[in-house]
This record gives sequence, C-alpha cells and structure tokens, in this order.
Amino acid sequence: MRQDEAARLRREYEAGGLIEAEMASDPFEQFREWFDGVVEVELFEPNTFVLATADPSGRPSARAVLMKSFSADGIVFYTNMSSRKSRELKQNPAGAATFVWLPLHRQVRFEGSLTPVDDSVADEYFASRPRGAQIGAHASPQSEVVQSRDFLERRYAELDESFGEEVPRPDTWGGWCLQPSSVEFWQGLPNRFHDRILYRLEGDAWSMERLAP
Ligand SMILES: Cc1cc2nc3c(=O)[nH]c(=O)nc-3n(C[C@H](O)[C@H](O)[C@H](O)COP(=O)(O)O)c2cc1C
Repeated sequence: MRQDEAARLRREYEAGGLIEAEMASDPFEQFREWFDGVVEVELFEPNTFVLATADPSGRPSARAVLMKSFSADGIVFYTNMSSRKSRELKQNPAGAATFVWLPLHRQVRFEGSLTPVDDSVADEYFASRPRGAQIGAHASPQSEVVQSRDFLERRYAELDESFGEEVPRPDTWGGWCLQPSSVEFWQGLPNRFHDRILYRLEGDAWSMERLAP
C-alpha cells in the first residue's frame, strides 16, 4: 500500500471517551462490559485476539487465537501444546494478548504470564468440541512442516475411522491461561487524540493511570 492510499483510508473516531471515574476498578469487570458490547453489536468472532510470544532470545511472534473463557484468573485459549507458540511459552511464559474491535474503535491489551490450564478443564472443553474439530486436533502436527495437503487429509481420514464415538483429548492439545499484570483500554477519538486507561497490578490491587495517545 502506498502512503497516499493510506491517507485516503483515514477515518475520524467519534465515540464517547473514557473517564476514570466511570471505569470499573477491576479491569476484568471493565472487560466484561466492553465484551458484552461487542457481542451486542454482533461483531464476527469478537473473541479473537492476537497473542504475542517470544523465544528465549526475545525474538517475537504473533498470531490470532480464540478466547474460550475469561475470569479474574485470566484469559483462556486452546491450542496444540507442541506448536511454535506453546514451545515458546514453555521456555518464556511471558505473553501479550490484544483484542481489536474496529467497528467500536476499541482495543484492549493484556500483558502477563501464561500457565497451562488444568488437564480436567482442557478435557471438559475438548469433549464439548464438534467431532470434526476433535479429529483435526489429532491429525494436525501444528506448526510442523508437512509434505502436502493430501498427507493431512489422509491422516484425518485414518484417525476418523480408527476412533469410536468418543475421541479422547490428544496429549499434545491443551489450554493456556494468560494472567495479566497490566490491562489497557483504548478508545479511538477525533484528531487521533485517543483515550488510554492502563490498569496495573500492584500487589493484589489494581492501579489505574492515563496514558498519552
Ligand atoms: C480468527 C482466528 C482464530 C484462530 N484461533 C486459534 C485458536 O484458538 N487456537 C489455535 O491453536 N490456533 C488458532 N488460529 C490459528 C493461529 O493463528 C495459528 O495459525 C496457529 O495456532 C499456529 O500458530 P504457531 O505456529 O505460532 O503456534 C486462529 C486463526 C485465526 C485467523
């Protein structure tokens, strides 16, 4: 994209701003409020976020994943535990999760550390997935180089045939929970003069500060 094309894409953001006194004192409560808002306007896959990880040398990588639950304990997603992201997290448990909800001119950024979810929780979620997704989890050596699409299709068909009605959770599939130490709420406003409110965990209490846009 050329710079003049980017200039034509410029839009003004006209929603209301963020006022400290109106923000929840707990960022998860605030997130709940914003998340209810995106569900209400029926955004496509509003639970998508970009997860950033880094290898031990600090080289970053980022990809989209789907949030499957959130609570005061953190944000949970499921994946292959031998994938690139999981390999990086096992060596360096620091990560960041960014939700971008463009139609509402909003962004939420979580930063913190990640731990695997308990096997029993992963079992429960895996059992709730459609059979096709369960077979897919067994068939895909996520992040590995494979020789062809055909190789994957054959693996899928073989596994589909070999399993009975119940498909067990593969050992290589599980969940991660990001426990944030900071959460930032960003609201787009006119003249690129946006609002940013940052919560930081200090001991076991959340502080709130305003950042310049
Ligand atoms: C909208 C969207 C949602 C996705 N959700 C997940 C997910 O929940 N879990 C997952 O493992 N990959 C998901 N992916 C695929 C990842 O972006 C990525 O390709 C994959 O996890 C391998 O990443 P890695 O090689 O860095 O580990 C999703 C992709 C998109 C575009």
